[in-house]
Amino acid sequence: MMKRIGLLTSGGDCQALNATMRGVVKGLANNLDELEVYGFMNGYKGLIYGDYRMLTSKDFSGILTRGGTILGTSRQPFKLMRVPDEKGLDKVEAMKQNYYKLRLDCLVILGGNGTQKTANLLREEGLNIIHLPKTIDNDIWGTDMTFGFYSAVNIATEAIDCIHTTASSHNRVFIVEVMGHKVGWLTLYAGIASGADVILIPEIPYDLDKVVEAIEGRRKRGSGFTILAVAEGAISKEDAKLPKKELKKKQEEYAKKYPSISYKIAKEIEDRTGMEIRVTVPGHTQRGGSPCPYDRVLSTRLGSAAAKLILNDEYGYMVGIVNGKTKKVPLEECAGKLKMVTPDAQEIRDAKRMGISFGD
Ligand code: F6P
Repeated sequence: MMKRIGLLTSGGDCQALNATMRGVVKGLANNLDELEVYGFMNGYKGLIYGDYRMLTSKDFSGILTRGGTILGTSRQPFKLMRVPDEKGLDKVEAMKQNYYKLRLDCLVILGGNGTQKTANLLREEGLNIIHLPKTIDNDIWGTDMTFGFYSAVNIATEAIDCIHTTASSHNRVFIVEVMGHKVGWLTLYAGIASGADVILIPEIPYDLDKVVEAIEGRRKRGSGFTILAVAEGAISKEDAKLPKKELKKKQEEYAKKYPSISYKIAKEIEDRTGMEIRVTVPGHTQRGGSPCPYDRVLSTRLGSAAAKLILNDEYGYMVGIVNGKTKKVPLEECAGKLKMVTPDAQEIRDAKRMGISFGD
C-alpha cells in the first residue's frame, strides 16, 4: 500500500513536536510499501502559500530528543482563517487547493486549541485530517494529557526549586510566574512539585487579603520566606467580576504600569506587608529544550496511534490519551472546548489539605 501525507506544526512550539512526527512517520513507514511525506513550513502559513518540502525517513531520524519543530511554526488565528489575506487570497480555499494538488491521503496537524479549530474547519471542508494535541498548557478537551506539558512542568519546577534555595537564604517572598493565560494546569503541577506555598491560577480568582494572610501566617510560624507560583493569567476576585470590556480596559492600564500580573501582585503585597518581594519569570524557557522521558513516550505513542488510523483510512479525529490508553476523539466533539482546572479538582483539594493557599 502507498500513502501520501502532509504534516504541519502550528501555534506556540513545545518540546515533543519532533518526537510526535517521528512516531507518525515511523509507524507508517514500517507498515507501508511506499510513503511520501510533505512537510508544510511554519504552520498553516505553509499550507496556505504552498511552502512545503518533501521529507524522507532520514529527516525523522535522530529527532526524538530534539525540542522545537523541524517544520517551524507560526500563530495563524482561527478567527482570521475566513478573512482573506492582504492580497485578497481566500486562505481556506488555498489550503484545500494545496492539499488536492499534492493528492494527499491526509493531513496530520500538530497543535493546540486554535490549531484544532482550524483542523476541524478543514475536516468540515472535506479534507482527511488527524490532529495531535500539543501544548504545555494541557488544556485540550478530550485527552488527559498533551505532549509538552510534563517537559514544561519539569522546567517550571526546576525554576521554582532554584528560587526556593535563595528565598530561604534571604528570608524573602518570591513570585515565580508560570506560563498559562487561560488555564492553570502548569502552575498547579509545577507549584505542587516544587512545594510552593501559594498557587494562583486563572480558574480560582484570588483575594489579596488571603494571599497576605498565607504569607503572614508562615512568618508567624517561623518561616521567613514564602514562594508563590503565579500563572500568567492569575486574576483577582474583583477583576474576575468585571464585564469583559471593562476588564480589558483595566488590564490595559495594568500593562502600562507592570510588565505582568506578578509585578502587580508583588507591589501590592509589598505595600501591605513591608516585606521584600522578588519576581522571576522563566517565560519561554518553559517551552524549550529536550522533551522529558514522559513526553517522549506519550508523543511516540500518540504518533504511532495516528499512523494506525491512517493505515485504516480513519480520519477526522484527534488522537489523545485517556486512562493510559490512546484514544481517537472525533474532532467535531472536541474542537473549540477548553479543559480547565475546576476549583474542586482532586489536585486542588489534595493541595489545600496540606496547607497550600490558592488565595481564595
Ligand atoms: O499556549 C502556549 C503558551 O506558551 C501559553 O502558556 C502562553 O501564555 C503563550 O503560549 C505565550 O505565547 P507566545 O509564545 O506567542 O508569547
